Amino acid sequence: MRLSRKHWTVCTISVLLVLFYKTTDIGRNEVHQKASLTWYLEPSATRLMANGSEKLFGNVLNGLDLGVGWKINATLVSIIRKDILRYLDAERDVSVIKSNFKPGDTIRYVLDRRRTFSVSQTLHSLLPEVSPLKNKTFKTCAVVGNSGILLKSGCGKEIDNHSFVIRCNLAPLEGFADDVGLRSDFTTMNPSVIQRVYGGLREETQQENLIQRLRQLNDSVLWIPAFMVKGGMKHVDTVNELILKHKLKVRTAYPSLRLIHAVRGFWLTNKINIKRPTTGLLMYTMATRFCDEIYLYGFWPFPKDASGNPVQYHYFDGLKYRYFSNAGPHRMPLEFQTLQRLHSKGALKLTTSKCTST
Ligand SMILES: *[C@@H]1O[C@H](CO)[C@@H](O)[C@H](O)[C@H]1NC(C)=O
Ligand SMILES: *[C@@H]1O[C@H](CO)[C@@H](O)[C@H](O)[C@H]1NC(C)=O
Ligand SMILES: *[C@@H]1O[C@H](CO)[C@@H](O)[C@H](O)[C@H]1NC(C)=O
Ligand SMILES: *[C@@H]1O[C@H](CO)[C@@H](O)[C@H](O)[C@H]1NC(C)=O
Ligand SMILES: *[C@@H]1O[C@H](CO)[C@@H](O)[C@H](O)[C@H]1NC(C)=O
Repeated sequence: MRLSRKHWTVCTISVLLVLFYKTTDIGRNEVHQKASLTWYLEPSATRLMANGSEKLFGNVLNGLDLGVGWKINATLVSIIRKDILRYLDAERDVSVIKSNFKPGDTIRYVLDRRRTFSVSQTLHSLLPEVSPLKNKTFKTCAVVGNSGILLKSGCGKEIDNHSFVIRCNLAPLEGFADDVGLRSDFTTMNPSVIQRVYGGLREETQQENLIQRLRQLNDSVLWIPAFMVKGGMKHVDTVNELILKHKLKVRTAYPSLRLIHAVRGFWLTNKINIKRPTTGLLMYTMATRFCDEIYLYGFWPFPKDASGNPVQYHYFDGLKYRYFSNAGPHRMPLEFQTLQRLHSKGALKLTTSKCTST
């Protein structure tokens, strides 16, 4: 599958929810449910979606600097957890398991319903027996996005100090440890990364690079949204074969066929119309089930920081991204503003500045 450059956004699920929701009723039914969370239903949220990046940016900066005096609100955390559980059974939806499929089963891609793939023996052998997050709870979790805002943050130690660390899209850690840390308990990998970063694994050196990176995962969870869009399984089958051949110690997981609809449904019911959630938002939403406190790092959907200095889209490469384009798949500024509201209410902590070691 070929995609244009702007679609190769790291930390995204490469899906076409927009089309999907235009052609089905799922989204609409969910909208009619009564919104139960009122704490972030502020009218300005929708304005973010179209125009006015400069103005928005100003608003965001005014709302920032909430790190001092931030306190978790455990009551609110538990309200949100309960509410999300009405949409999402995160323990189950985090991965399909062996007993869900047989080798040879034909499955429709979640967002490309006319396309199918067949469950290979290789895939089946790598499906977990039980959910990788079965019965798990953590005191504090870090969800680490990939924004260049992390550079020179010094947040590595703080990130590694959390009980559970979630990272996105197999982002490199070596060479960035001071700012992003090294620990990973759960790492996502979109199939698109195999093409964009590992050249489709056609050459031995590319395979070797991927193997090296996967070895660093050291028995933690590798989460691959393989069933989203057509062609997803093509690259993933190759990765899976490498994992088996080299006996790599990673615990593979593949999100359920309903996860993305459930996550979108939750936010939509709260009037946050996120057509295609970023992986970061998916991870926050899932983590509410397992984590008492959630700390977000590396989320910053703007080309400049609060002082006007340029900020890379990714901390590790020079990829460009048009944050405010309506053509792109995501609504990162809208997501960010939503997270910011949750931060200000004590539901999560969003770190966008340097980490001060205490
Ligand atoms: C944003 O809105 C202003 C008017 O409010 C308009 O002049 C401008 O062209 C718009 N920009 C974009 C990118 O749509
Ligand atoms: C915590 O959140 C709950 C629910 O939104 C709210 O009623 C309560 O006032 C909050 N507590 C504090 C200390 O802000
Ligand atoms: C999960 O917890 C339930 C109830 O607390 C227990 O019965 C079950 O054995 C646990 N399962 C695993 C895999 O730990
Ligand atoms: C690590 O976490 C503990 C509490 O869990 C805290 O007391 C300590 O300050 C943290 N260290 C860093 C470097 O964040
Ligand atoms: C890999 O995991 C083992 C067991 O959890 C741990 O002792 C070791 O330090 C880890 N190595 C790295 C490089 O994280």
